[in-house]
Amino acid sequence: MKERVVEPHLFIILGATGDLTRRKLLPALFHLRTYGELEKQNTLIVGAALPELSEEAFRLWSYEGLSGSGTRATTDLRQWCQDHVYYHTLREGRLADYEALAKFIARLEMTRNLPQNRIFYLALPPTIVPTTLELLDQTGLLKSHGWVRVVFEKPFGHDFHSARALNMRLHRYLEESQIYRIDHYLGKETVQNLLAFRFANPIFESLWNRDTVESVEITVAEDLGVEHRGAYYHEAGALRDMVQNHLTQLLTVVGMEVPTSFEAAEIQAEKLKVLRSISPIRTQDVVFGQYTAWAVPGQRILGYLEERGVPPDSRTETYVALKLEIHNWRWRGVPFYLRTGKRLPRKITQVAVTFRPAPIQVFRSLEPGSLTSNRLLIMLQPSEGFSLCFSVKTPGRSFKFTDRALRFDYGQAFGGELPEAYETLLRDVMIGDQTLFVTADFTETAWRLYDPLFVVPREVHLYTAGSWGPKEADALVEQDGQSWQLGW
Ligand SMILES: NC(=O)c1ccc[n+]([C@@H]2O[C@H](COP(=O)([O-])OP(=O)(O)OC[C@H]3O[C@@H](n4cnc5c(N)ncnc54)[C@H](OP(=O)(O)O)[C@@H]3O)[C@@H](O)[C@H]2O)c1
Repeated sequence: MKERVVEPHLFIILGATGDLTRRKLLPALFHLRTYGELEKQNTLIVGAALPELSEEAFRLWSYEGLSGSGTRATTDLRQWCQDHVYYHTLREGRLADYEALAKFIARLEMTRNLPQNRIFYLALPPTIVPTTLELLDQTGLLKSHGWVRVVFEKPFGHDFHSARALNMRLHRYLEESQIYRIDHYLGKETVQNLLAFRFANPIFESLWNRDTVESVEITVAEDLGVEHRGAYYHEAGALRDMVQNHLTQLLTVVGMEVPTSFEAAEIQAEKLKVLRSISPIRTQDVVFGQYTAWAVPGQRILGYLEERGVPPDSRTETYVALKLEIHNWRWRGVPFYLRTGKRLPRKITQVAVTFRPAPIQVFRSLEPGSLTSNRLLIMLQPSEGFSLCFSVKTPGRSFKFTDRALRFDYGQAFGGELPEAYETLLRDVMIGDQTLFVTADFTETAWRLYDPLFVVPREVHLYTAGSWGPKEADALVEQDGQSWQLGW
């Protein structure tokens, strides 16, 4: 793998007064600067947004956001904002404002002696992304003597046709090599380590197939409800909001073949092959759920239908569990279970690989089921690491077994904090590495897989807030002799 470096550039955030900029982008940029790379390369940040703010006011807003965000560095935040952050007002659809932005950028590049390398981060509501791109193109901002990269946030369409239309529109102005679609799950250290774990450790890679793996489960559980996003969520639901993107990305990283090299294109191609090998999902293998209120004296958690912005008759799912099969030589016959939901007991993201039991049981005196299968748990949240579970004999004369685990925790092993996903991803945009970004083909193929589930009549099973989802989801795995695996 060739080490790439950050080249001097302008980092232009469109929609810079939003929540994403304040909570994620500015802290990530500030941390990258503390590693020295951005500082050395004289990278500057230009915020652009609707409000008519002075540069000073935007710098103060950025500073206040940074100091309240628990950024790791405590000193010189204010000076950093002063030296590196600029602001430009950009009203919706106004060509004149974009022309002024183009002049502003050209002047900055000239006075600060920067090559015309530009990153445009579209931190905007998806509805205004197409016009914004058109205006950037019209004012010549997407053409330069250096490189231009554009970062997009999800959602990338809401079904196959809208995703394809969006991609066609993007490709009118940009090459795919300039487009960085963010899925922040891919920026997590464990996802990258999953690649390292699989392809640097032959003992696991040789077990990673239908001969030894009995099932794979991917769980993304959230303890929060829909919060202030009720209206959005009613339109989206868990399948669109989580499964089509985050869970499917994890699935393809777990299921992919060994790439011929660690280059972005090779990895993307292998992930896409997995996605294309998935058999159509049967409706009987999908369970939809919706949370209802939970109450004890003195405390009550609202049910989904009571949340602000949610129509009282909404049939949108806040939970989904499904089973699918990757129809290839490696995985044929191995069930992959995906599940995600809101208002579950805790926030947890994990992949559980359950290995097949021994073909012959030599401990004949044991009760059936008293020996559990070997399992590899890959944790992404709340902590990051791996845990390999196996059976051991308990001390004493009789032959009794219990479960124990070999555990590797990133935080404990390496100390300190792991980089935030946005830090990893922003740096990758800066060095031009697309490995951890979503391709046009991936989004379209993923929509193709899930689209049929949006149009068939669906039953939505209720579950109490704070429980692990509807009992029908347990039945989905139990009918295959499995159970949902949880945490270490
Ligand atoms: N926030 C997150 O943690 C998060 C996480 C993942 C993905 N995203 C995605 O990132 C994008 C931005 O999210 P956000 O939470 O930062 O959104 P936001 O807070 O609603 O606003 C983003 C920016 O867009 C501007 N804006 C809103 N409506 C506009 C319009 N009609 N014309 C021009 N500008 C408009 C806002 O200006 P005002 O400040 O004047 O309102 C703000 O500068 C969205 O696509 C979202 O789905 C966000």
